[in-house]
Amino acid sequence: MLSFLLLFFSLLSSHQPAAVSARCTTVTTTKTFQKCMTLPSQQASIAWTFHPHNATLEIVFFGTFISPSGWVGWGINPISAEMTGTRALIAFPDPNSGQLVLLPYILDPSVKLQKNSLLSSPLDIHLLTSSATLYGGRLATIHDGAAIQIHATLKLVPNKTKIHNVWNRGLYVQGYSPTIHPTTINDLSSVTTVDLLSGTESSKHNNIYTLKLVHGIINAISWGILLPIGAVISRYLRHIQSLGPAWFYAHAGVQLSAFFLGTIGFSIGLRLGDLSPGTVYGLHRKLGFTAFCLASLQTLALLFRPKTTNKYRKYWKSYHHFVGYACVVLGVVNVFQGFEVMGEGRSYAKKAKEDKLRREGVLGGSVKEIGSSNS
Ligand code: HEM
Ligand SMILES: *[C@@H]1O[C@H](CO)[C@@H](O)[C@H](O)[C@H]1NC(C)=O
Ligand SMILES: *[C@@H]1O[C@H](CO)[C@@H](O)[C@H](O)[C@H]1NC(C)=O
Repeated sequence: MLSFLLLFFSLLSSHQPAAVSARCTTVTTTKTFQKCMTLPSQQASIAWTFHPHNATLEIVFFGTFISPSGWVGWGINPISAEMTGTRALIAFPDPNSGQLVLLPYILDPSVKLQKNSLLSSPLDIHLLTSSATLYGGRLATIHDGAAIQIHATLKLVPNKTKIHNVWNRGLYVQGYSPTIHPTTINDLSSVTTVDLLSGTESSKHNNIYTLKLVHGIINAISWGILLPIGAVISRYLRHIQSLGPAWFYAHAGVQLSAFFLGTIGFSIGLRLGDLSPGTVYGLHRKLGFTAFCLASLQTLALLFRPKTTNKYRKYWKSYHHFVGYACVVLGVVNVFQGFEVMGEGRSYAKKAKEDKLRREGVLGGSVKEIGSSNS
């Protein structure tokens, strides 16, 4: 049980938006900006100068690549704090020349649903200039950890000083189509709403992140800890004569609270499923449904519990034991399945894909400071 808790908290802490990430800077080799902000994920940050009188925003995004043929994207979402609707600038090595390119993309709903691949298209926001710069001087190459700056000058809607700032990065670009980024909680926390004038994050928009965290904690406690404890109570404490019927009340109390909490956790899980139609965690979902049905059956069965003297009591008892143990096993397995989902993406996918890319012989050419513009 202890190792279980430890695992849980280590997973939590490893997915907390990095508090250790570098402090932001207002200074680049070409410009000094007025304000800067460290972003909550992917060691990213931004710096900007905002001219309220002509609503012009000069902004630079600092990000890092996670693979030699990967992409780094930054954009603003004029509508809401989420990926869909974002007007993004995405930097990656040109498949033909190996040189760094920066292209505009509109992340329409079909992208997140993975119905269409992401194709470059002109932005419908007032973008005056844009360019990308790779750190590390003339010999800088794109590699895992390579630092990049995406510069943009934008004309904003007058008097609108809050922007939804969205960023992400992926392992691979197919032709000129960046492919999906990892989907760990950390990689899905890459949205903030920034107040350009005050330089503060104007509200927490890590809704999904928070929901996942709450879902994880509640379910780990109810399905992973309380439910097994309840089973242990009835299995072992009932034989201790001196306790009398106390074991029963303890058992029933623990299981009912486990079920109550578990129902809340399950409902949050359903909501999470609705919120991310693009991903289906098949096994985690099915196990969750099954465990929840068993637990509901088990709770319902309480109402039909025959008296001790009833001859059907023993059948009820075997039924109750069978469903109970099945429920505990499924519940615990699914909590671990949930850990897997939480930690998946970066560690597994990244390694596998990078190995594959390495085998295929990825571009080695030197990528220098290249700018590209569009208006
Ligand atoms: C290249 C194709 C892309 C695909 C197929 C894709 C797919 C997805 C999917 C399926 C999710 C939801 C995952 C989940 O909830 O478990 C997601 C979330 C997210 N994506 Fe993308 N994405 C792409 C490109 C981008 C780009 C270029 C950016 C940013 C510049 C971005 C930023 C985000 C952010 C911030 C989230 C979390 C917030 C939200 O769900 O709206 N994505 N993406
Ligand atoms: C906006 O004003 C700033 C100075 O305050 C100036 O440097 C910049 O060029 C102006 N931008 C536009 C698009 O007029
Ligand atoms: C923006 O705000 C200023 C001062 O608050 C006001 O004079 C101006 O009319 C506003 N502009 C728009 C487009 O709302």
